[in-house]
Amino acid sequence: ARPIGVAVLGMGNVGTEVVRILTESADDIRSRVGAPVQVRGVAVRDAAKTRAGIDPALLTTDAAALVARDDVDIVVELVGGIEPARTLIRAALESGKSVITANKALMAVHAGELSEAAARHRVDLYFEAAVAGAIPVIRPLTQSLAGDSVNRVAGIVNGTTNYILSEMAETGADYHDVLAEAGRLGYAEADPTADVEGYDAAAKAAILASIAFHSRVTADDVHREGITDITPADLDAAAKFDCTVKLLAICERMTDADGAERISARVYPALIPLEHPLATVNGAFNAVVVESENAGRLMFYGQGAGGAPTAAAVMGDLVMAARNRVNGGRGPLESTYASLPIASIDEAQTRY
Ligand code: NDP
Ligand code: HSE
Repeated sequence: ARPIGVAVLGMGNVGTEVVRILTESADDIRSRVGAPVQVRGVAVRDAAKTRAGIDPALLTTDAAALVARDDVDIVVELVGGIEPARTLIRAALESGKSVITANKALMAVHAGELSEAAARHRVDLYFEAAVAGAIPVIRPLTQSLAGDSVNRVAGIVNGTTNYILSEMAETGADYHDVLAEAGRLGYAEADPTADVEGYDAAAKAAILASIAFHSRVTADDVHREGITDITPADLDAAAKFDCTVKLLAICERMTDADGAERISARVYPALIPLEHPLATVNGAFNAVVVESENAGRLMFYGQGAGGAPTAAAVMGDLVMAARNRVNGGRGPLESTYASLPIASIDEAQTRY
């Protein structure tokens, strides 16, 4: 089969690992896809920066031109933020290219318009890496549980804040030192305010609520509190009650007394009893508990942040999208978002 051409936008924590895996595992990927998967170019902001593991001839600062190339079939967006990511993804979809993104900030606000563009042009838009790093949660919710009714999705979905809270609780480490370490380890967002003020977890909650409850929920619909007010004294007090503190994201579907269906989505630091499974989730690990009518309770656990774990999720999407192109079609996520009704948000429940 003809090679599948890939444009990688961004070569930071995640993009570097995606390029490494694409290079080191080229033969395996070729056999899984049924065609060679070749990097056509890698867009960065600063082409002069020294970067290991990449032929400098592949680097460009002109992401739009790279996306527009005829020999690019799939665009992998790992730049982050709203613009230029949104415009680049739209351009890719509108010229018939499949898109993989790890960008939760973007998907939490613009997933509707982007998935409509993907549906119109009959191409894939995959975003498994946007929620909980390496942990498969998007595909289980959109595919494996597509025939069940999910009532609740809750858990720890931000690695940076979980790393900070668990280091502070376990070793008494200083908040600012651990936050800086989370940046060095590649867990934190480019602007870590997104992590510590709960914006990142709220974006993930919006995505989870949308796909779990088949309703369009955006980041603005999510009640959000971060961890910046949590002090060592709070953690000591929690320990005295055999509890710990975790930043939780909770998404619930509920029916009002008048029979109307409403959604509540909220992010806040919560006291968790030490015997609760979520209390044992430490470091940059995440865990997501899903409760559905027939499947009952499911728990997903693993590395929620970091270059290589996140790249693993991106690569899964990339192999799927490449296979779909080799087979001349698009994959099964096509109904996600594109036809979703706008959710009715339960303001009262969301606030508690
Ligand atoms: P980084 O900040 O490490 O990397 C961003 C990359 O994008 C850099 O290579 C940067 O170039 C490049 N870039 C920035 N602006 C532009 C632009 N205008 N044009 C071209 N390139 C640009 O981010 P991460 O790798 O950590 O994250 C990437 C995405 O993945 C984000 O959406 C993030 O939320 C998401 N994500 C991250 C996870 C993590 O653990 N890190 C986990 C899950 C998702 P340069 O190198 O020249 O500065
Ligand atoms: N900054 C994010 C986190 C990256 O710490 O969870 C993974 O989405």
